[in-house]
Order: sequence, then C-alpha cells, then structure tokens
Amino acid sequence: MLSKEDNELLTRIGPGTATGDVMRQYWMPILISNELPHPDCDPIRVRLLGEALIAFRDSKGRVGLLGEHCPHRGASLFFGRAENCYLQCVYHGWKFDVNGKCLETPNEPPESNLQSRVRATSYPCVERSGVIWAYLGKEAMPPQLPDLEWTLMPESNLHISKRVQQCNWAQALEGAIDSSHTAILHGLRSDKLYDGTERQGWLYALEDTHPRFEVEDTDYGLAIGARRNAAESSHYWRITQFLMPFYTMIPPYGPKPVLHGHAFVPIDDENTLVWTITWHPTRAVTPQDVLPETEHIKHLGGGLHVTEFLPATSEPAGAWKPAANKSNDYFLDRGEQRNSRVMGVPCVALQDAAVQESMGPIYDRRNENLGLADAGIVRFRRRFLLAARLLREEGKASVGVHSPGAYRVRAAAVVLPRDIKSFVDGARDWMVIRPGVHMDAA
Ligand code: FES
Ligand SMILES: [Fe+2]
Repeated sequence: MLSKEDNELLTRIGPGTATGDVMRQYWMPILISNELPHPDCDPIRVRLLGEALIAFRDSKGRVGLLGEHCPHRGASLFFGRAENCYLQCVYHGWKFDVNGKCLETPNEPPESNLQSRVRATSYPCVERSGVIWAYLGKEAMPPQLPDLEWTLMPESNLHISKRVQQCNWAQALEGAIDSSHTAILHGLRSDKLYDGTERQGWLYALEDTHPRFEVEDTDYGLAIGARRNAAESSHYWRITQFLMPFYTMIPPYGPKPVLHGHAFVPIDDENTLVWTITWHPTRAVTPQDVLPETEHIKHLGGGLHVTEFLPATSEPAGAWKPAANKSNDYFLDRGEQRNSRVMGVPCVALQDAAVQESMGPIYDRRNENLGLADAGIVRFRRRFLLAARLLREEGKASVGVHSPGAYRVRAAAVVLPRDIKSFVDGARDWMVIRPGVHMDAA
C-alpha cells in the first residue's frame, strides 16, 4: 500500500509536480518520425505530461514542439500552417520557428516591438532510429538520449506500436514489472504452449508457479529477478528491468530471440501512451516477429502489439485508441473465458489494459494488500519516490540522466547455478548489449 500523500506524489506528473520534474529531466519519445511525414506537413496535437502541445516539421525537416496556444491571444496552433520554416497562427498571422522565436506579427504596425518580446513555449526535439524525442526540462544543455538498445538499431530492426491506456502511467507500468500475473491473466497453459519449438523456459515457468523475487538497484533503475527451480543445482531466472523514468523490458524465450520493451509515457495524470517496441539485435524484424502465428499466440488471441484501432482523429494520440476498449468491455468473450480458462479479451496488450484500467484512472493504493510476489512493484515505487524527493529537496539529478550508457542492457532469461551471490552479476553476459552479439535465452 501507499499513503495518500505518496500515491499523489507518484502519480501526478503535470508542470510543477515532483514526479513531473523527475520525468522532465529526461528526453522522452513523443512521436514515430513518420507521424510528421515530410517538411511542412500538417501540424499535429501532442499531449505530454499534462501539457497541450503542437508538433510540426519545418521546411528544412526540423521538428518543432510548441505550446498549443498562440502567445498572442491563445488560438490553437493546430490550425496553423507550416511553410517557409515557420508555423503561422491562422488568427492574426503571427509566425514562429521551431525554437519558438516569433518571426513576424503581421497585424501589428511597424512601430510595435512586440515581435522581439514574444516567444512561444517550445521544447527541443531530436530524432533517432525513426523516433522523435522531446526534452521538457529546465537545463539549457539537455543531457544525452538514453542508449536503450532499440534506439541504436537501424529502423529495419525495429517495430513500434502505441496504444492509449486510460489510466495513470505508474498503474500501467506496474503491470509490466509484475511477472507473477503473466501465467494467470495471459493464460499460459502447457497444452497450448508449443508450436513445435521447445521452449524450456515455459516448462520451468509452468512447473514452478510461485517465483521468488529478488530486486537489485542498478545505475539505470532496477533489475527485477523472478527465480524458479530448474535442476537440483540451478535456478531459472527471468530478469526484467525498470529503467528510469518509465521504461521496462520483457525477458525473452528461446534461441536468438526477438526482444521487446515498453515505454509508459504519461499523456496526463489519467492517460498513458504505452509504446511497445520489438527489436532484434542482429537482423531485420519480420511480421512473424511482431505478430507470431504460433499456436500459443493464436490461443491468446494476439500478441503484444495492438493492431485494431478506432478511426483516427486529430486529438492527441488520436490514431492510437484501441478498437477494443473500456467502452465495449474490450470485446470480452465470456464463452472463451469459460471454456478456455483464459481472460477472453483479444491480445495480451488489451488484457493488461483491461485489468489496469479497471482499477480506475488513479487507484487509491491505500486499499491494496501486497504480497511477496509484488516485491518489484514495491521497489519501483520506493525508487521513484526517493528520486522525486532527492530532486526536490537536494536538487540531485535522478539516475540515468547523466549516464546514457547505463541503458545498454537487455532483459534476460537464463539458468544459473543456485549458489550465485547476485543474479545481475551471474547474468551479466546476457544483460549487457554488445553490437552484433546476441545471446540465446532459456
Ligand atoms: S491568436 Fe495567434 S496570432 Fe493572434
Ligand atoms: Fe501482462
């Protein structure tokens, strides 16, 4: 459980909040590059950490991220036109460049010097591996982007999808570091698991359904190890990471596996844009990697990427609202639930969304009863709240802000001797990324 005060501290991310300040220290992924497909394309609405913003691509291809409301009298710059390296407000024609500089105020007489005194709110943006990143922090010299492996890949080695989830960012993220739910909610069952490829890891997970959790602090956040019995002298470890401020990674299965991770980017206090990233360290990603047609995935009704969305709107993230959602009970199939003993909601991602949104937009964590299997969640909260307090009270930068190289890690699924002292040390060869090197998972 969390006190009311700590719950507020963890979940509120708007301007001026402690958790919002923690997040604003980091670059954040905001758009897939092709959402702004060409120079002077249509501007689009972005909502990030409770701030209403407009993204555009100028005539030179540079990305600008401006406050939505024109600094003249507040008309939305969404209606603006991008041309000649500016975004022009359609109301009185004021023009702004990607840095928020006011270039012209055409409705003002020549003696007016408003133009030189006015600036639009603007945030720096950069692009890497087909993703647009924004920095909403205070530093004149922003830090570097995190070296997450998927940000270092050629675009062909990546597949990214997003989905709007109608709950707080921490509530959504906690599902991704909660590996004790996977076999239950997502219905892993022995008779449906196999597509001809033996997955030893699944067998271990099925045979030992009560993993023991160990959590280690790291220089990017947390390594969360779920330990199961393997042989008499060994354990099977599934190791997932929480990386500040909102990234997670999924332990893989099998030889030279495709890898997956998430970013839980707050839209506002009650909505989250969940990024799902699939990548392969040494080859292009195929459709089969993204939506594998294995018996197992068919049984679950779909994989990690949502593929059906409501018709796109111009609202923030308006192209990423799942067709199966809260308003239609996520296409829940009670017959499937009864007969197959699975949840009955199509696709793993929406099963997560359904249970996490069902808690309400911001769950009152005073009502929880946490158990041993919730150890990763407890440590995540403690780590994040500590970062918020250290930043607020001592001005201390959070982990990872100034160490982009700390993010060069992978999730792992490995069999290790029982007598290891630290699972992070024991699994180091699997967890450290090296260009061109990929390891087998158990
Ligand atoms: S409100 Fe934008 S130019 Fe007047
Ligand atoms: Fe899940």
